[in-house]
Amino acid sequence: MTASTIRPCDISDYPALKSFDEFMGDRRIDMQQGSLLVATLESAVVGYAKVAHSEFMGWPLLSIVCVAPSSRRQGIGRDLVEGARLATQWLRLYTSTEASNMPMRKLLKSCDAKEIGFTDDLNMSGEREILFRLK
Ligand SMILES: CC(C)(COP(=O)(O)OP(=O)(O)OC[C@H]1O[C@@H](n2cnc3c(N)ncnc32)[C@H](O)[C@@H]1OP(=O)(O)O)[C@@H](O)C(=O)NCCC(=O)NCCS
Repeated sequence: MTASTIRPCDISDYPALKSFDEFMGDRRIDMQQGSLLVATLESAVVGYAKVAHSEFMGWPLLSIVCVAPSSRRQGIGRDLVEGARLATQWLRLYTSTEASNMPMRKLLKSCDAKEIGFTDDLNMSGEREILFRLK
């Protein structure tokens, strides 16, 4: 397992992050809001996580975890989730994933995330969204 470094995102990380980002939205806005963590391997940015400060009923929500395809299955996603969980400013931390996203569900299970429920009629696809408490 390769050891990654988790740190707050810097605006200069944007080009590297954009090269593998697969989520909608402009990450530079998230960077300005201070909601991104990045994972680096030998100083190259290989993943990021977003914690939206009050997106889950007023509580913080880990809303994105994204690892560059070439760097997957090396523990980086788990390092990002743990990095978000260990941040001392959160009293509680929640996350969610689509039911079909087995990699993310397995990752969360390996982090002892507590499954707290699900919601239907939320995703445009009609897919069930499963809710977890991380902290
Ligand atoms: C989901 C994602 C973040 C996982 O990142 P990763 O760095 O590959 O995950 P890790 O290496 O930390 O894996 C930790 C554990 O999760 C599980 N896991 C991760 N990817 C898996 C896969 N493709 N299949 C099965 N289990 C998987 C395993 O239990 C793994 O532990 P192990 O390698 O010891 O068996 C990555 O695949 C990704 O960026 N996917 C696209 C974006 C996405 O769907 N994000 C989640 C919703 S926001």
